Amino acid sequence: MGIRFPESFLWGAAAAAHQIEGAWNEDGKGPSIWDHFAHRRHTILDGATADVACDHYHRMPQDVALMKELGMRTYRFSISWPRVLPQGRGRVNPTGLDFYDRLVDELRKADILPNATLHHWDFPQALHEAGGWQNRESVEWFAEYARVMFDRLGDRVSFWSTHNEPWVFAFMGYAQADFAPGLADYSAAYQVSHHLLLSHARAVQIFRQGGYKGKIGIVLSLSHYQPASRAEADRAACQRAYENGVALFTDPLFRGRYPEGLFEWIGPHAPRIANGDLDLIQEPIDFLGVNYYFTQAVAFAQHGGHLKAATEQVRDRGWGRTEMDWGVHPAGLTDLLVDLKRRYGDLPIYITENGVAVKDVPDRKGFVDDRKRVRYLKAHLRAMWEAIQKGVDVRGYYVWSLLDNFEWAHGYLPRFGIVRVNYRTQERVPKQSARWYSQVMAHNGMED
Ligand code: FCB
Repeated sequence: MGIRFPESFLWGAAAAAHQIEGAWNEDGKGPSIWDHFAHRRHTILDGATADVACDHYHRMPQDVALMKELGMRTYRFSISWPRVLPQGRGRVNPTGLDFYDRLVDELRKADILPNATLHHWDFPQALHEAGGWQNRESVEWFAEYARVMFDRLGDRVSFWSTHNEPWVFAFMGYAQADFAPGLADYSAAYQVSHHLLLSHARAVQIFRQGGYKGKIGIVLSLSHYQPASRAEADRAACQRAYENGVALFTDPLFRGRYPEGLFEWIGPHAPRIANGDLDLIQEPIDFLGVNYYFTQAVAFAQHGGHLKAATEQVRDRGWGRTEMDWGVHPAGLTDLLVDLKRRYGDLPIYITENGVAVKDVPDRKGFVDDRKRVRYLKAHLRAMWEAIQKGVDVRGYYVWSLLDNFEWAHGYLPRFGIVRVNYRTQERVPKQSARWYSQVMAHNGMED
């Protein structure tokens, strides 16, 4: 007895430009805030940079061939904004634009549906210096960039996502200083979040007006939140953490308002919102991209920052430590998806990221028997399947990630790929998880 997924279910893998492309200053590309951040000392573990990464910029056709060999139906990639517009606006770099044109053609030749994310964090450094996402003009900068991409690829891309994980980008980058651009300012993080939402909606508007083919949505980092105990204080803290981490984006997108109560807690950090902004942000989208990695247990904490909340990842027994030290709780994926349906109705959903970094030990040929990753993926596919049984409209799944890659501030230490990358030789060797995933994709299901 195995489990099977709906007939037209789409299987694939995800990656992001900055994490795999390399060629950081080649063929006219401008620097991104991540190039800038990584080139500063002491920001990335081991002093790593993404200057070369997986050298995907030069190896793209082979990487697409590998996806085809594994049997993928779709591939989620991102476009490096400063590769296309080196200054972020104005002059287009034709060589950079050509790269994505070739990628899309190569994918379609291989029968793989392109899913393109416009902004997966590698924002042009030139725009950052012009005030960045804190500047309301960023909304129009993004709109201009989106139009360039729609005009060039709009006839061939199946799915567009405007932003990847705006929460992580805004809070890790502008409030917690862990990620580029490395600021520690909560007011900035909330303002940036608001501008990301506005720019998302402007891009959707342009997409609709232009009558381009394909579908458009946004990708959010959605943890499931649960109170650490039944105590009223923990439940209230959990509600605040949930509103801050999830509803800060989903409520404006799907209900046209910011979550009740949250703004009282964030007080002076609340963003400036102009008349009409919330109407615009509600611009209907075709799908929601959900990135799921973990579940958060939330307790009241007197010293838990402006939300007076302490979050800890739920760790199911028997999983041990993962390389990111993230807790593992597959059932949280079912709960999260069911909850989304309950709150926001029937929304087409794609799991746009899910995966795990484990300690990979290659044999002499570079092969990795990554049973723990297989077990992780299996448990999460099962959890997703259960949500589908409960009526959630999940239409596809993208494993994070195709290749081992540059894991942001953690550099190259955590490996998330189902394909091993030898960074010295750039050799790619599919791991056991890739073989297993191939079978899942081929049978549209798996053994229990
Ligand atoms: C997500 C990011 C993605 C990757 C995974 C592990 O937050 O979207 O780029 O780094 O985490």
